[in-house]
Amino acid sequence: MNLLAIESSCDETAAAVVEDGRTVRSNTIASQADMHAVYGGVVPEIASRKHIEAIAALTDRALADAGVSKADLDAVAVTYAPGLIGAVLVGVNFAKAAAYGLGIPLIPVHHVRGHIAANYIAHPDLEPPFLCLCVSGGNTLIVDVRDYTEMEVLGSTRDDAAGECFDKAARVLGLGYPGGAPLDALAQGGDDRKYDLPRAQIHGAPLDMSFSGLKTAVLNLVHNAAQKGESLDLPGLAASFAAAVSDTLIPRTMEAARRLGYGKVAVAGGVAANSRIRADLERACAASGDRLYLPPLALCGDNAAMIGCQGYYEYLAGCRAGMDLNACATRDIGEG
Ligand code: KG4
Repeated sequence: MNLLAIESSCDETAAAVVEDGRTVRSNTIASQADMHAVYGGVVPEIASRKHIEAIAALTDRALADAGVSKADLDAVAVTYAPGLIGAVLVGVNFAKAAAYGLGIPLIPVHHVRGHIAANYIAHPDLEPPFLCLCVSGGNTLIVDVRDYTEMEVLGSTRDDAAGECFDKAARVLGLGYPGGAPLDALAQGGDDRKYDLPRAQIHGAPLDMSFSGLKTAVLNLVHNAAQKGESLDLPGLAASFAAAVSDTLIPRTMEAARRLGYGKVAVAGGVAANSRIRADLERACAASGDRLYLPPLALCGDNAAMIGCQGYYEYLAGCRAGMDLNACATRDIGEG
């Protein structure tokens, strides 16, 4: 079964052809990151316009790369939530037109379910149930993946996502947008105990997280140093920051894994590319005996192959959308 998959929830326009869920026949991405870098973050209106410009040609390329004609497609899968509403709408409307024009089913896919599914592509043996830490620019969730289409959030951030925190810390250090990868590079070889940064705990909600205090602490540290004319140990600050994020994510992930007892832990989303988080998870899973599933860096960030993979499992579960499908800015992963 060939699925055409479309993703446009933030600043990446993406189209892919995925066969039977786990075989990626093509995976094309047009990133707008350079466009938004001038502003230090994603400008939603620009994102929507750039999706409109890119989506048709990108889909043609995905079909050509896959060696598949429109007549060979069996369904269209599309990210319909969560994301920047104007951006998601572009993908949803394009996918609706494609499905209607070709007379094939339309499958709505939750973006974070897609991130989780990137692990199915990378690890052919992985099957639910497992515990997944989902960390991206817009979401930070600890998810009980009971089945391909049955999930429950066990813990989440109360404010900023981990990726948002990386991007804002990187911005104040002049590292550009998106700042997660350059901040990760800067941290290599830095002293992770150089700066004492906060690790927030939420009373009565041991699996929930908060990153806004950490973000503010970094901003204050940098501004205070600038006002006093003091120089900072930048690799030390980057390493201390990555350690604070990791110390917030990993113990909660491992506690959730312990409670569920599945013996399988996966990671998903753009921040899953972070070297400190990957190394800490490897250590923690080696100690607990859980098997760890890490997606390759190319499948951590937004892409359409992951949407095609999850779309296949949604299709098998009977999920279909009509021409009244709407985009949603927010939606619980458990609702699908
Ligand atoms: O999954 P993604 O591409 O988009 C969303 O669905 O949000 O994630 C993008 C986020 C950005 O915040 C980016 O800075 C972060 O992932 N990121 C990283 C790294 N690579 C990308 N954060 C930390 N370390 C990295 N190596």
